[in-house]
Amino acid sequence: MTIDAGSHVAEPEPSLEIRDLSVRYGGAVHALRGVSLRVPARGVVAVLGSNGAGKTTLLRAVSGTLPMHRGRVDGGEVTFGGRSLLRRDPADVVAAGVVQVPEGRRVFGRLTVDENLRAGAIGARDRRARAAARDRMYETFPRLAQLRGQRARLLSGGEQQMLAIARALMAGPTLLLLDEPSLGLAPRIVEQVAEVVGQVSAQGTAVMLVEQNAAMALAVSEHAYVLDLGRVAVEGPSAELSTSDEMRKLYLGETSGIDSSAAAPKLARWSG
Ligand SMILES: Nc1ncnc2c1ncn2[C@@H]1O[C@H](COP(=O)(O)OP(=O)(O)OP(=O)(O)O)[C@@H](O)[C@H]1O
Ligand SMILES: [Mg+2]
Repeated sequence: MTIDAGSHVAEPEPSLEIRDLSVRYGGAVHALRGVSLRVPARGVVAVLGSNGAGKTTLLRAVSGTLPMHRGRVDGGEVTFGGRSLLRRDPADVVAAGVVQVPEGRRVFGRLTVDENLRAGAIGARDRRARAAARDRMYETFPRLAQLRGQRARLLSGGEQQMLAIARALMAGPTLLLLDEPSLGLAPRIVEQVAEVVGQVSAQGTAVMLVEQNAAMALAVSEHAYVLDLGRVAVEGPSAELSTSDEMRKLYLGETSGIDSSAAAPKLARWSG
């Protein structure tokens, strides 16, 4: 028998599938209860919810970092490209192409912008590949190029968030996990974060975007899930959710003071 390598069908691009996921912390706190969710290849999916809803827990379950927080999966499945991500080392998950930007834009404050990016270049094959990856980041984030020699702790909140995202992108992920990237940033900077999410997805990387800023997240995503007390309370196409009366009342809050006719995404703060 011969195998014709030229005629094989290309492998389908990996999607993230979460099925009936249950997570507990320390045995007592039942943080997720039967959550199912899908992030298609190259797609942007928003996960919304108020404080304590379980958003970060969901990202930890995907990135393999639950054990660091004394959490554990006690039911369900998480697969990426058909392979289970559960009970795998965080480094293995990164090697599988899934990279998380944790809550609170953690950067190495004493390192320069350039050194932070170098630190993110895990998995790049050699010096040249790493340098090329860095050049691409400086193209995507021109502000970081201007600041490349600056210590990260001296950057503004928005600049640190961009650096945290750029550092994660240095690993060349197929799926980027973002935990509340807009938290504490001025509306103008939130718009920049939204733009970056759009660019990342246009370049072929899927994004799972955890946010409390529902208006921004719905504007940049195709599909959205609302978590409430560890369960999926609402789910649907983002365009539908952003016009749904229930969503507006419960989660989108007031838009007073913001010109809702502007082309930019509305920046009403999550009120729930
Ligand atoms: N390490 C931990 N140990 C015990 N309980 C935890 C731990 N981390 C989170 N929890 C609990 O799990 C639940 C979900 O928390 P999680 O951090 O996932 O929420 P969240 O949606 O990310 O909230 P926020 O918007 O405030 O970041 C909360 O009740 C929280 O108190
Ligand atoms: Mg959180």
